[in-house]
Amino acid sequence: MRSPSTTRLPFHQPKNATRGGPIFAGRETAAQLSTVLPARPMIQLEGVTKIYTMGENEVRALNNVDLTIAEGEMVAVMGASGSGKSTMMNILGCLDAPTDGRYRLDGIDVAQRSDNELAEIRNRKIGFVFQSFNLIPRTSAVRNVELPLVYAGVRDRGVRAGRALEQVGLGDRQKHLPNELSGGQQQRVAIARALVTDPAMLLADEPTGNLDSESSLEILRLLVGLNDAGRTVVLITHEEDIAAFAKRVIRLRDGKIVSDQTQHKRMQIAQ
Ligand SMILES: Nc1ncnc2c1ncn2[C@@H]1O[C@H](COP(=O)(O)OP(=O)(O)OP(=O)(O)O)[C@@H](O)[C@H]1O
Ligand SMILES: [Mg+2]
Repeated sequence: MRSPSTTRLPFHQPKNATRGGPIFAGRETAAQLSTVLPARPMIQLEGVTKIYTMGENEVRALNNVDLTIAEGEMVAVMGASGSGKSTMMNILGCLDAPTDGRYRLDGIDVAQRSDNELAEIRNRKIGFVFQSFNLIPRTSAVRNVELPLVYAGVRDRGVRAGRALEQVGLGDRQKHLPNELSGGQQQRVAIARALVTDPAMLLADEPTGNLDSESSLEILRLLVGLNDAGRTVVLITHEEDIAAFAKRVIRLRDGKIVSDQTQHKRMQIAQ
């Protein structure tokens, strides 16, 4: 019988082989390949179903959904009221678990995780932006932005929060309370808070729903800019005007994806 190759290996190395030589050559090849391969998947849903049980009735809010979103995409999720958008967002954001199916986020299988593990994955991987900003009242902009870093146990929180506020154009509003800021500025603070942990992906549920058209444009410019810089962005919207800025539009009906279009010529925002 042949002995296992592992035990023979030391005796079969060519005399001139350097440690790791062939391995490095392999890595180089992989690195070179990665420049030509398509971006890696950020989100992979396979057969995802979400059923809400209300007494005797079952609502199939998501029905066997397959979806892959690659790193660096900007995707708008559209659909009528009750079509399953928020349900999908809650699952993508690890705020809720599917009843059935598989979900991989940035390569991690998140379907079968405990609540604590999900909280950690959320904090590390996802930045949330909500329609209603969800800032803590009577707390300065910079303190609001620091919050996810407190949960993550990061030290130089003030510096990082300040930098995130500068990134959204609010470097001079750090000490302002939410009620001392305009709606658009409050949403920008919320985006800074979503960005401060450097998440793999931004999830925004109707981020411009409470804003006038000028402030909406400001927020869109910011989201498009972040996407141009490589950040994956998924946003829910009711408005075609907003979806026009995404690279891809997914439409839901009765818990199913009924269309999935790539917008080769997405709308550009005038600077
Ligand atoms: N917690 C829940 N319990 C029971 N049913 C629910 C629950 N959440 C949502 N549903 C049902 O699931 C379906 C999808 O709801 P969802 O909130 O995902 O819709 P939506 O597309 O976000 O709608 P909207 O545009 O109004 O926000 C609806 O029929 C809704 O009534
Ligand atoms: Mg909703």
